[in-house]
Amino acid sequence: MQRLAPALRQDNVPLDLISLIKTILAATKEISFRVSQGHLSDLMGSTLDENIQGEVQKELDVVANELLKDILLESGFVKAISSEEEDTSVAGEKDGKYLVSFDPLDGSSNIEINSLIGTIFSIHEAPSDMDASDPDMFKQAGNKQICAGYVLYGPSTMLVMTTGSGTHFYVLDRTHGGFLLVERNVQVPTDTQEFAVNMSNQRFWQAPMQNYISDLLAGDTGPRGKNFNMRWIAAMVGDIHRVLTRGGLFTYPQDSKNPKQPHKLRLMYEANPMSFLIEQAGGLAMTSEGRIMDMQPNSIHQRVEVIMGSKNEVEACLAYYK
Ligand code: F6P
Ligand code: MN
Repeated sequence: MQRLAPALRQDNVPLDLISLIKTILAATKEISFRVSQGHLSDLMGSTLDENIQGEVQKELDVVANELLKDILLESGFVKAISSEEEDTSVAGEKDGKYLVSFDPLDGSSNIEINSLIGTIFSIHEAPSDMDASDPDMFKQAGNKQICAGYVLYGPSTMLVMTTGSGTHFYVLDRTHGGFLLVERNVQVPTDTQEFAVNMSNQRFWQAPMQNYISDLLAGDTGPRGKNFNMRWIAAMVGDIHRVLTRGGLFTYPQDSKNPKQPHKLRLMYEANPMSFLIEQAGGLAMTSEGRIMDMQPNSIHQRVEVIMGSKNEVEACLAYYK
């Protein structure tokens, strides 16, 4: 099995980007260790703080954020970082070439139940003419990402990453401490009979999503003429990993549960990196209005509607909005 750096060189990834990726992965190996320690690590509780999104922070969230932030800001490669757990961007090296956005621990409600969680990251080039403390540097569309990926802390720790030459799977080999390539150019099957959505929000969705999901639930007695299965891990990393592995449609649609917050998932460190991975694997990543990666961001914690996965199924869903 190929090691990470030679695999990246095969895709012509520049050496300093490889170094940045290895820096991110050094932090994720430490996070992976702490996650695997579970209750032994004394990090399972909640802090008394809320993050800027009004979510209670778990200690492991905070530790994962600090590990990533410190190693990235000290690396010399990074002009600034932006994180789910930071109110605004944090400046690094003034001549740093890269910007890194990350969700240090996605799916953190799964921490206490010993279920799937992961780290999501997205890398852009840093504009050379802007100040390192200017958060506007991050207002770049997803189609300008040069690398995106996640590390899934599951029964095995996996890295799923793209640098624009396909989406590849790696597994952390704890015997030598590195990630090994296990599958190059993963492909999301074009068709699927599986969907992922939080069904408890059904009555708050817009009519097109209500109609689409009812038709899936009607199975072979309905207009789709086939039965569908449903899965919901409640961690985007886990659900997207399943979609990349065996296909499916993943959605967090717009809802009216809290009129001030019609969308749940964050553009910069959830939707964009996952969109890059899904598209590089032959899938589609959309809102009901267009391609996620073509959206012009207006803030670093912006939220967005997400409909992604198997190409034909995403198109079938979007047809209800026409
Ligand atoms: O980060 C947000 C997130 O935890 C995603 O990982 C996940 O897909 C979603 O929220 C779960 O939402 P809900 O709490 O509605 O199940
Ligand atoms: Mn998240």
